Amino acid sequence: MHSATFIDNIKLIIVKDKNKGGELVASLIQHFLKYKKKSVFGLATGETMIPIYANLKKLYRKRRINFSYVKTFNLDEYIGLNINDKESLRRFMDTNFFDYVNIRKVNIGFLDGKAKDSKKECKKYEKKIEGAGGIDLQILGIGRDGHIGFNEPGSSIKSKTRKVKLSATTKKDNKSFFKLSKVPDYALTIGISNILQAKQIVLIAFGKNKSKAINLAINGKISNKIPASFLRKHPNVTLVLDKSAASQLLKNNK
Ligand code: GLP
Repeated sequence: MHSATFIDNIKLIIVKDKNKGGELVASLIQHFLKYKKKSVFGLATGETMIPIYANLKKLYRKRRINFSYVKTFNLDEYIGLNINDKESLRRFMDTNFFDYVNIRKVNIGFLDGKAKDSKKECKKYEKKIEGAGGIDLQILGIGRDGHIGFNEPGSSIKSKTRKVKLSATTKKDNKSFFKLSKVPDYALTIGISNILQAKQIVLIAFGKNKSKAINLAINGKISNKIPASFLRKHPNVTLVLDKSAASQLLKNNK
């Protein structure tokens, strides 16, 4: 079992490594579904999420989890890409998760990076989330610069779903997902205000290169310089970290 502690109102769980972290978050989702079959999940992409989706697929193969009533909404998508492009975030979700479980295609919510009118697309997406009853559980990763979703430093706590310019750090970090083409300059993302509307939030980080952002998010000033710091304004946040990602945080909370 993993023991949990609290830093102010944030629940902190430290796991041995990313595989244990994946198991833990998958079982958290499994328990969530036991109490609410028709859960609405906010989902994320990126390296961090791979062990989580791998463990959810495992639970599904063993028939220990059922997604048939679940609705999902992903955080973001690159401008210019959508389901038809193999480097899109939607394709990441299909190949790492959706294609392997019994989630219904109609229940998958995604921003369309190829929408002609991005403002309209963002409004439509917010309406769709609202129509589903809002997000019950939002899963989040964190960028090295403290971003959540694609809410880069400078994003306000009131930010809504919108088109954003990606920072140089974010583009560099996401390069490994782009084999032939370059990382797009712009993306659509749900805003900080949308994220904070979720009933429950789990932020996950693995590896030493996340330890600074995690420490600043939890111990630093709450400010738009580190968008993840706004999560401290939410009443129900759990942090799942491996030992390396937690290293700076633990040093400063002794
Ligand atoms: C990306 C995504 C985020 C993700 C973060 C960390 O840019 N938009 O949703 O959480 O950066 O990614 P990774 O898990 O690959 O480190």
